[in-house]
Amino acid sequence: MPAPPPPQLPAPTLCPLVPADAPACLALDRAALGGLWSLEQWQRELEEEGRPGLGLLRGSDLLAMASGWLVVDELHITLVAVAPDQRRRGLGRRVLQALMAFARERGASRATLEVAAGNGPGIALYGALGFRTAGIRHGYYRNGEDALIQWVSL
Ligand SMILES: CC(C)(COP(=O)(O)OP(=O)(O)OC[C@H]1O[C@@H](n2cnc3c(N)ncnc32)[C@H](O)[C@@H]1OP(=O)(O)O)[C@@H](O)C(=O)NCCC(=O)NCCS
Repeated sequence: MPAPPPPQLPAPTLCPLVPADAPACLALDRAALGGLWSLEQWQRELEEEGRPGLGLLRGSDLLAMASGWLVVDELHITLVAVAPDQRRRGLGRRVLQALMAFARERGASRATLEVAAGNGPGIALYGALGFRTAGIRHGYYRNGEDALIQWVSL
């Protein structure tokens, strides 16, 4: 008799990130990006008005997140991260699209971000969502890597 199919995990739920999520954001930031921000920076980020953050959670596990700053009619995307064991399942696309829709509902007409020139998965995700490179910041990152400046119309 064939083995029964593995049980289906529930789809992750989209939630706004709040200050109480700072430790989970820090853990995902460390796992996915090597730790861009400290706990204090995460707390401030999640408290500030005009800095939306969205997460995809399964139970209490934060699997993916996207955050940005609303600056007049622009969304400045600060970070997109998916847990290493959850990638290529559409979570990055889902959480980033939700952040873009959230910003559009609040009057943003375009979105921008910086991505390392060597970050293939990031560039592929952004390209799939319509971002196009408009400029390069040479040696922008601590390791000397260039940053691509990308924009998309919302
Ligand atoms: C970049 C990142 C967020 C992508 O998340 P993800 O959940 O794996 O991406 P998705 O499954 O939603 O992929 C959506 C699309 O992006 C592209 N893509 C994503 N990862 C890719 C990869 N490794 N190689 C090629 N294309 C990729 C594909 O077009 C994909 O669509 P498809 O699966 O239908 O082909 C994830 O790799 C990550 O967290 N990386 C580390 C953090 C980082 O670099 N963040 C970006 C800079 S802040």
